[in-house]
Order: sequence, then structure tokens, then C-alpha cells
Amino acid sequence: MRLTPPFPIDVVIMAAGKGTRMKSRLPKVLQRLAGVPLVQHVLNTAAQLNARSAVVVTGHGADQVEPLVLASGQLLAVQCVRQEPQLGTGHAVQQAVPALADDGVVVVLSGDVPLTQADTLQALIAQCGGQQLALLTLDMVDPMGYGRIVREGESVQAIVEHKDASEAQRQISEVYSGIMAVPARLLKPWLARLNNQNAQGEYYLTDIVKMAVANGVEVVAHKITDALQVAGINSPVQLAELERAHQLRQAHALMVQGVRLQDPARFDLRGHLDCGQDVEIDVNCVFQGRVSLGEGVRVGANCVIANCTIAAGAVIHPFTHIDGEQLGVSVGEGALIGPFARLRPGAQLAAEVHIGNFVEVKNTTMAKGAKANHLAYLGDATVGERVNYGAGSITANYDGANKHRTVIEADVHIGSNCVLVAPITIGAGGTVGGGSTITKSTAPGALSVARGTLLSIANWKRPQKVPKGAP
Ligand code: UD1
Ligand code: MG
Repeated sequence: MRLTPPFPIDVVIMAAGKGTRMKSRLPKVLQRLAGVPLVQHVLNTAAQLNARSAVVVTGHGADQVEPLVLASGQLLAVQCVRQEPQLGTGHAVQQAVPALADDGVVVVLSGDVPLTQADTLQALIAQCGGQQLALLTLDMVDPMGYGRIVREGESVQAIVEHKDASEAQRQISEVYSGIMAVPARLLKPWLARLNNQNAQGEYYLTDIVKMAVANGVEVVAHKITDALQVAGINSPVQLAELERAHQLRQAHALMVQGVRLQDPARFDLRGHLDCGQDVEIDVNCVFQGRVSLGEGVRVGANCVIANCTIAAGAVIHPFTHIDGEQLGVSVGEGALIGPFARLRPGAQLAAEVHIGNFVEVKNTTMAKGAKANHLAYLGDATVGERVNYGAGSITANYDGANKHRTVIEADVHIGSNCVLVAPITIGAGGTVGGGSTITKSTAPGALSVARGTLLSIANWKRPQKVPKGAP
């Protein structure tokens, strides 16, 4: 059960830093982890906290960062404040002060720390209790570069930045994660008193700890052991490492539910995946957006599957690409898809449909048992039950300006290499001879053939090669 604290929560997300080590034109907080921009992960977490507002401090790349942040407006009330130039973390939070009401608890987060869990922050907020300064800390084997938690006995006295720390302080393994919860009414006067008299000439947010101690406000450290939750991204290497660690966690969570992954180290989920019982997923599959796999679904190696629903017992053979985008894709019970198939937005396949290699299906409904097994295109079509759609056949759905529909009624047999020029209806039970280009609707039960008549000349002599030097 999630308890709502008796005070409002306002989140400040620091996202003004440059991210020099990414060596990218894209601002650091827009780099993606599990397919989602880093700052979006942080905003999603803020939304899970039921925060009253989020203030994002932008600077480097603000023109690119702000539109994405503001697009999260439906999740929670967000605003951006600019920090120019960037004079340190204390200076960053100072920019947010005008946007912060006095009655809230401020949770300070960083736009480049994507994997903090809401329940961790809830525990931190509970420690703050609307009265105290609560710091999220952890012990590190190699604390180099981090702010150290300086204690006297048990009680926290200060955070000393690595560059300012004495040799003795550098031996401290407990570090500040960069995340704190603090009542706004205490934070504001402390921020106003920060200075930049330190090794980096920056306004350190961490200096408020000393001020709290001097004011007799208790400082509590909420220590966690899960370093991934506070890991920041500074370089492509760190981004890739955190991606792998995160993917492995997602893979484990699915396996705990009973999903059989051939190799959890070769599995990527960039979105949400729901699985029924006895789902099997082979190596190197990527799932994106919202995907649901029914009971007993098997997914072969090297599939990319996005925004679709796959019903029980369907088999997705290797190298299949499915992306429903906004419209979605649905695959019916017991359907067989691939290898090398492509299902695009609006493909709605009923039970026991077969889609084979190099077949593309877009905005098309296929009824139970319909088959297109080889090298074909079905776009803007309605296909009846048990239709057999031959190799190399296409629906010519586009006249250069508009899209038109092709209707293929139940039990039709379309031969190989046919072109069905839409709009057109092939009547139920009809047959279309191989190699036909059909431009008019056909009657139920009819055989329709539209191709040149066979011309066959007996004993035909091919031209002979003229010998070299012949006149
Ligand atoms: C900070 C903490 C340190 C802690 C560490 C954890 C301070 C002074 N130090 O150090 O105690 O151990 O995080 O990772 O706070 N940012 C701005 N504007 C600025 C400066 C930074 O928006 O002017 C943003 C950065 O983009 C980043 C975050 O604040 O997202 C943290 O800044 P960073 O420079 O990484 O802090 P550290 O020096 O690592
Ligand atoms: Mg720094």
C-alpha cells in the first residue's frame, strides 16, 4: 500500500549540465535508456510519487530538452526554468526557488540518473517527514569523485566534495547519491546563503547540510545498497553498462513470472511486455512500446516486435518485424508468422492465419485461416476466411494520390504473381489465375485470368552466334 504523505511533494530535476563526455550533439538527458530519454525516466518516477509539480532546470541544449519535458504535462504539472550559466548544483536549485511553494517537500533529482525507484524516494520522503533534511546515500567500494557523508558518531555533519576532502575524509566510503528531500521553507533560506568558496568555484547544493546542522535541523541519511538506482550517466560506456544492467533486471523479472528466455543477456525490452503462461522467447529479440504475448506464444530468434497483441499459441518465427505504431497489430490464436515477415500498423490477423517469408501486411484484416505464405504484399485489404493468397501477389492500393481497398471474400484462391488493382472485390470462392492483373471486381465462384494468351512456336531456332572473322 502506498501512503500519501501529509504534505505536497515538488520535484526539482537538475538537467542543465553539458554532458561533455557523451561527445554527442544530443543533450545528455535526451540520450535513451531502454528506448526512453533519461529525463523522461525521471519524470515518470516523479509522476509515480504523485508529486504536485516538477521543475526541470535546463541549460545546455534547453531548446531540445524543454519541448520533451513540457510534453510530459499530462503526467504531472511540469515547468522548466533556465540556468545560464551553470554555476553548480546549488545554483541550479536556486533557479527553481521562485517556482517552489513554501508548504511542500522538495525532492532533488538529476536528469541523468534514470533508474531511481519510486518506493526508494517514498522511503526518503518519509525520513524527511516534512521536518528534516533527508539524504539518499550508499556505501561505495570506490567512492572517488563523490561527495562524502561526514558523521560525528551517527549524526551527519556535512557532505564534503571529493575535490575539497582531506585524505582522512576521502577514506569515507559512504557517499551522497545526489538525491535529497527537504522542506521548501528550510531549503530556501539555506540556498540564499550558499557561496562558491571551494575547490571547484561552484555553488554546492551539498553545503546546505552544514547549514542544517548549524540551525539544529536534523539531517538523516537513508542508506541504500542498490547502486543502479542512483547511477548517473556521463559517457556512452556508462550508458551501455546501465542499459545492460537494467535489461538484465527486466529479463529476471519476466523469468520470475515464468517466461522462458533462451538467454537473459540477449533480450531487450524498451517499453512494456505482458506475457501469459509458458511464453518462450529465443535470443536477440527486441520488444518496444506495448506488447502482449498470450499463453504459449513462442518467439523465434532475432525478432523486433512493437505495439502489438499476440494471442495464445501463436508462433513468431525468426527475423520477423512487427510494429503496430499508433494503430496496433493483432495476431490471432495459433497464427504462424514468419520467418522474415513484416506486420505493419493495422494488420489484424485472426486465428490460424499464416504469414510466411517476405510477406508485408499493412492496414489489413485477415479472417480465420487465411494464408499468404510467400513474397507478397497485402495493404488496405479485407481478406476472408481460408483465402489462399499466392506467392508474389500484391494489392495495388495506391494510385499515386489516394489509397483504395481490396476485398477478397472467403475461400478465394489468388494465384502467384497477381496484381489486384484497388478498389476491387474478388467474389467469394473465386479463383484468380497466376500472373493476372485484375482491374475489375469479379463474381463469386468465377475463374478470372487476365494475361497475354500463350503463343508457342514449334521447333523455334534461336539466333546463332556469328563466328569471329566471318564476313
Ligand atoms: C554531485 C554532488 C555529490 C554527489 C554526486 C552524485 C554537489 C556539489 N555534489 O556531484 O556530492 O556525490 O553529485 O552523483 O551537488 N547540474 C546542473 N547545473 C549545474 C551543475 C550541475 O543542472 O550548474 C546538474 C548536472 O547536469 C547533473 C546534476 O546536476 O545532472 C549533478 O551535477 P554533477 O556535476 O554531475 O555533480 P557532481 O559533481 O557529480
Ligand atoms: Mg560536477
